[in-house]
Amino acid sequence: MRSCTSALVAWAAVLAHALLVSASQTVFSAPSNASIERKPFGRFLHITDLHPDPHYKHASAVHAACHHTKPKKHKADGKQRAGWFGTALSDCDSPPRLVESSLQWAANNLVGKDGGIDFVIWTGDSARHDNDDKLPRSSKEIFELNRWTLDQLERAFPGVPLVPSVGNNDIFPHNILFPGPNAVTKEYVQIWQDHVPEYEFHTFEQGGYYVKELLPNRLAAMSLNTLYFYDNNKAVDGCVRTRGKHKDVDPGTAQLDWLEVQLDLFRQRGMQVHLLGHVPPTAGNYFARCYKRYTDIVLRFQDTIVAQHFGHMNTDAFFIQEDQEAVYTAAHNDAEVLQEGLPGDLRQDYSTLPGKGRTDEDLYSVFFIAPSIIPTYYPSMRLWTYNTTESARYTATTTTNTTQDDDDTDEVEQEDDDVDLDDDEGMVGVRSRHHHRPVPPKKRKGKKHKKRRRARHASAASPSRTNTYLSLLGYSQWVMDIDAQNDAVERILHRDTLKKHDDDDEKRRKEAEAVEVDYRLEYATYPGSVLWAAFHPESGYTGPEAVPKRASWPSRCGA
Ligand SMILES: *[C@@H]1O[C@H](CO)[C@@H](O)[C@H](O)[C@H]1NC(C)=O
Ligand SMILES: *[C@@H]1O[C@H](CO)[C@@H](O)[C@H](O)[C@H]1NC(C)=O
Ligand SMILES: *[C@@H]1O[C@H](CO)[C@@H](O)[C@H](O)[C@H]1NC(C)=O
Repeated sequence: MRSCTSALVAWAAVLAHALLVSASQTVFSAPSNASIERKPFGRFLHITDLHPDPHYKHASAVHAACHHTKPKKHKADGKQRAGWFGTALSDCDSPPRLVESSLQWAANNLVGKDGGIDFVIWTGDSARHDNDDKLPRSSKEIFELNRWTLDQLERAFPGVPLVPSVGNNDIFPHNILFPGPNAVTKEYVQIWQDHVPEYEFHTFEQGGYYVKELLPNRLAAMSLNTLYFYDNNKAVDGCVRTRGKHKDVDPGTAQLDWLEVQLDLFRQRGMQVHLLGHVPPTAGNYFARCYKRYTDIVLRFQDTIVAQHFGHMNTDAFFIQEDQEAVYTAAHNDAEVLQEGLPGDLRQDYSTLPGKGRTDEDLYSVFFIAPSIIPTYYPSMRLWTYNTTESARYTATTTTNTTQDDDDTDEVEQEDDDVDLDDDEGMVGVRSRHHHRPVPPKKRKGKKHKKRRRARHASAASPSRTNTYLSLLGYSQWVMDIDAQNDAVERILHRDTLKKHDDDDEKRRKEAEAVEVDYRLEYATYPGSVLWAAFHPESGYTGPEAVPKRASWPSRCGA
């Protein structure tokens, strides 16, 4: 329901375009895998779920995956036809022109006057769905679509670091990814060789995840392979400690071990980290053990994780993560959603908490889900801004607040995971096969494992909690009114001309091909002056501070 919320919540629209069209991109030519050495612009883009479909056919039947002229039988609305730029609120994938044109639009309009965006996070699903029995997918096609999508991104944002991650539709069959190294992880390390740092190739082949420093010694991204946490992946065991008769480490467990070790290292270096991946870490999506431990880790490294970004759901959403010890839960009532718009509803939810004094904010965290390019709802993308005032840099090691009873060598409790870890031989074998994995601790013989709480690194002064260097300042979200734009193209294609010429069709077709997509501001989480300053510093923008409520956005998802 959150999804509908946000589609409806478009409380900002307007004048965006007129102001934006003049902003043009200045290309800088650092190699695309290099870290940023100059002063950052303080902006990055989140693009997700592009789903290009080379078989998409304009005016084909929506109920035949937008591939064939005739709809599948027994479908009520068999007459619905595939739109030029895609078909909103359908199960069809994106025509390649939607992907290409959207990225070009972003390049022309979302890159500030001062020359750029710092990086692009790209959270997977860059191939079509497996939704047509007559046109089954293959690994080959999926990899080709990923190469094509990468090419579009590189053209749109030359020299800008990309941070890709694998989605559940980027593999064949979808959702199923066996432990690495395997053909899939090896292929993606090839495809993304200019974007995954070379020193991470080995890690990537093993696990499909990697770290990438974005601002050297300041800010890093950790791109997760969420397929090893995703409970639809039947090829893994969902973060058990060991599996099979050789006691292999489950790849989800190996990834969480890695995540924990890396976060600790980044923390020691006084760095901040963006976590990103395809499938969001909800209880509904993740295996129970993966969910529990992932949530535990992010809550324990709040002073180091500046934010978490995911895709997959095609909707605009965020989730609150709670520590098991969290006492208070906001009294959320779906029926009340939208009574006062998203900000009003949030304030109302927040007001049900018992107040700052009695709510331990260390026990809560949040992650973001960005809406998709594929028009499951309406094609959208998100531009983040962040604080670049380096003089305000926070370093965790100096100011952190750690709970007393930690013992960093102790194991995260996995009481439902009854595997005997005393078998040294088994563990040695595991270690040699996964040598980047930290050595697992031994259980004390004869004693029931005692529950201990591990260090919780949280601080009210960290960038995830207060506005300081690297804090997210907010985002603007951009949406395409795909219905209106399809209609505009149909008008061209069906235009009557006074005199009929043989080449009319072709002329009209060419004219249609030349139409480019246009996104509008859906809403921003900050005032107009902040938003526009980046694009028009010289204009001294004095537009509306609170962007007016827009009541007329299509709301079919609620029906
Ligand atoms: C970037 O790529 C080039 C060529 O592919 C490679 O030589 C270089 O080491 C890479 N840099 C990083 C930081 O991975
Ligand atoms: C650290 O934790 C203690 C106990 O939970 C709390 O009283 C104190 O305010 C915290 N300090 C900071 C800087 O967060
Ligand atoms: C960035 O953080 C510093 C330190 O808190 C603050 O002074 C500054 O106003 C922030 N910048 C923005 C744009 O909010």
